[in-house]
Amino acid sequence: MSSYDRSPLVVTIDGPAASGKSSTSTLVAARLGVRHVDSGMIYRSVTASRLRGGDAPELWTEQSVLEAARAVSLSPGETSFVPRLHGVDCEAEIRGEAVTALVSLVAKMPHVRAWVNALVRQTAAAHEIVVDGRDMGTAVFPDARLKIWLVALPAERARRRVLQRTGRAPNAEELAAETAELEARDLKDREQTQPAADAVWIDTTGISQDEQVGRIVGLAEERR
Ligand code: CDP
Repeated sequence: MSSYDRSPLVVTIDGPAASGKSSTSTLVAARLGVRHVDSGMIYRSVTASRLRGGDAPELWTEQSVLEAARAVSLSPGETSFVPRLHGVDCEAEIRGEAVTALVSLVAKMPHVRAWVNALVRQTAAAHEIVVDGRDMGTAVFPDARLKIWLVALPAERARRRVLQRTGRAPNAEELAAETAELEARDLKDREQTQPAADAVWIDTTGISQDEQVGRIVGLAEERR
């Protein structure tokens, strides 16, 4: 028996922007009866907290971002964790355009990354989790029981993101704009967005969500 066989179950699901990590992780966690932690949500909450300062992002020092991070906490919900700023649910605020445009800047700061990683590890110490992000299987949980790397073609990721936001399929113009936005963010995030050597790759471009969730749950159950 290896050293992690008796440790709480951790499944990591990493991949580029809008590759389906969060929705897949929520469904996988529900099927496994564990909670989902969205590490991107924490970076977004830190960014939202710093944005409330009102000053220009060019003036954001790492120290000032770390101070803003102190207002962020996670409260356990039934199947996930709710992000809070000063104790108040901030889910709507962190999905806005202002946060999306600035989150990669914040996520580049090494002390901020260390702070987020510590919060994620602390959460995992007390619960079995499915955790999604960019570097969960590499930097944060190198011994995770199961690591998934989710990919999909950029146009498909953009189509899903617009559908998620507006509830309808994008027109050609929206699709092009969203694809450009995702590719720009992939580029900004590329340093921390790398698959673990032992990750299982799943390309979700041509498969249904049910199928991808079923595959991950099957693998997790084998290793549990
Ligand atoms: O869902 P989406 O792909 O739009 O992004 P997200 O998972 O909400 O992450 C938002 C941003 O946080 C990313 O663009 C990265 O800059 C950063 N991030 C990161 O650097 N490392 C992680 N483990 C998760 C997110």
